[in-house]
Amino acid sequence: MEIDVHTALYGIIGNPLGHTLSPAVQNAAFRASGIDAVYLAFETGDPLACLRAAKALPIKGLSVTIPFKSLILEHLDSVEPTAVEIGAVNTVVNREGMLHGFNTDAPAALGALEAYAGLDKSHCLLLGAGGAARAIGFALKGRCRGITIANRTGARAEALARALGCRWVPMSEAHKAGADLVINTTPVGMHPETGESPVSGRVLEHAAAVMDIIYRPRRTALLETAARMGCVTIGGEEMFLRQAADQFSHWTRRAAPVDEMRTAFEDALKGAR
Ligand code: ATR
Repeated sequence: MEIDVHTALYGIIGNPLGHTLSPAVQNAAFRASGIDAVYLAFETGDPLACLRAAKALPIKGLSVTIPFKSLILEHLDSVEPTAVEIGAVNTVVNREGMLHGFNTDAPAALGALEAYAGLDKSHCLLLGAGGAARAIGFALKGRCRGITIANRTGARAEALARALGCRWVPMSEAHKAGADLVINTTPVGMHPETGESPVSGRVLEHAAAVMDIIYRPRRTALLETAARMGCVTIGGEEMFLRQAADQFSHWTRRAAPVDEMRTAFEDALKGAR
């Protein structure tokens, strides 16, 4: 499709954005759907200026990532109740100059966990207490037997545990959770520090399944250990692709071309190596 006077503009704001695969995946979705639009990466230190720019240019939709997901919440014209409860927005839709916020991370996490049938009977251990952990924690609440948060910074773990009404432990005591399902939401193990793992195999002793939200590398050191220990493993691409598809639908009010998005993701990941 030619870029011309009618081409609509979308993008992602965050910092850093170095390795984001969102442009590859969303541009493939626009192409596959025959939508005249382009999606760019805006690495920025000023998310609020980006929101003003979104109204002025206009930019029709934004993905929002680290570290702005919570910060922008109060600066939008409306925010869906679930995103308010989670305290984080990862999707902005510009409808006639009004910016509306959504969170597609939470349903995406649940969708990714569908691959694992034992969720309702599981005690879940969430590694990390940032924006992604909040979204996943609220998605899991009431859908599993219990949740424990483990985080490097105790105060953040405690705050999220209070919001979810669950237990927390310091990261060094994560093994005490005796979890059936372990979910890593920290960046530990992400490219290029691929040898690192947020916890040792001892934490996985009772685990039947392990999910990592990191998608580069596809199989983190944590998932390698989990696989060796016989756990079901769920890679970060499952959540990433679902949250991206849901964003596309919010922006375009159309079903996302998920097969083309997955292919674009695979190709971009191969090219990124
Ligand atoms: P996101 O929105 O992706 O969740 P975030 O809000 O910056 O990003 O949260 C990152 C999470 O990863 C936090 O729980 C952070 O722990 P702290 O609260 O102690 O900062 C965790 N994290 C980041 N780097 C880490 C590291 N090197 N070791 C352990 N935990 C780490």
